Amino acid sequence: MKTVIITGSGRKKGIGEALALRFASEGYNVVVSDIGTAKGREFAAEHIGNTTEMDEIVAACQVAGGQAIAVPCDVRSAADCANLVQKAVEAFGQIDVLINNAGVGYLMEPFVDFKEESWDAVLNVNLKGAFLCSQAAARQLIAQNTGGCIINIASQAAKSGFPFAAAYTASKHGLVGLTRSNAVELGKFGIRVNAVCPNHITTGLGDWQNKFFAEKLGLDYNTYLQGIKDRNPLGRTGVVEDIAKACVFLASDQASYITGEAMNVSGGEEYH
Ligand SMILES: NC(=O)c1ccc[n+]([C@@H]2O[C@H](COP(=O)([O-])OP(=O)(O)OC[C@H]3O[C@@H](n4cnc5c(N)ncnc54)[C@H](O)[C@@H]3O)[C@@H](O)[C@H]2O)c1
Repeated sequence: MKTVIITGSGRKKGIGEALALRFASEGYNVVVSDIGTAKGREFAAEHIGNTTEMDEIVAACQVAGGQAIAVPCDVRSAADCANLVQKAVEAFGQIDVLINNAGVGYLMEPFVDFKEESWDAVLNVNLKGAFLCSQAAARQLIAQNTGGCIINIASQAAKSGFPFAAAYTASKHGLVGLTRSNAVELGKFGIRVNAVCPNHITTGLGDWQNKFFAEKLGLDYNTYLQGIKDRNPLGRTGVVEDIAKACVFLASDQASYITGEAMNVSGGEEYH
């Protein structure tokens, strides 16, 4: 059985939860991981998964057919990321797939007023966190000599600009840069590195962004969402399962010659 580590997968309704359940149903051993409210207290609590949710997602993975464990990890900490990989290896013997999914998407401010601490908070989770986790996983994958796969959950904001979102947009563009650099460098070890770029999905994070942008545009929530659907070639916003399906594909042998990609999963809304 292959083993997948998914960061930021301890919040209900999130992409991480869907990834955990889908990989479990594919028979993977799943390492569910999140910062936990205790360590994430400098972020607004409603944006952070808690350990109860993490345990419930582990239980749901087991029902879905996979083995699963919960390992708290603040992706901003190199020690936590090393521990995450070590705990996965102790539980399941080796690792095969890392999905860097942890992200913060609510610190949005007009650029001229953008606070330095907001910039650091977003970049430290969304970009530095992926660097630290990828490094810990790559060290293990190289030592195992098994090859492997790293998937970075980027965003439409990795391809296009969004107002008030300087830090988020820069972090996600940076994540694509990290993806390409690591794909080139780690290819000789049989490690494939790709990014997935979702557009609008009404997770906890997505719901906050919908409210934020609706208010900025002077629209009510549903009118804002309908506008997104109307502009989308497939006529709908994304759902978490869209991302899970794309990640299962990228992790599989079906994608064995795909690396260094930043794949849009956006219903055609983003196409470059
Ligand atoms: N929802 C969308 O519309 C959308 C669109 C594009 C990209 N994304 C990306 O998808 C990923 C998942 O987002 P989501 O929409 O499921 O939101 P979410 O809030 O449900 O998930 C983000 C998770 O990251 C965790 N997290 C935050 N800081 C952390 C840290 N320091 N260490 C470990 N975990 C931490 C949170 O606790 C949360 O569980 C994010 O990277 C986000 O940027 C989401």
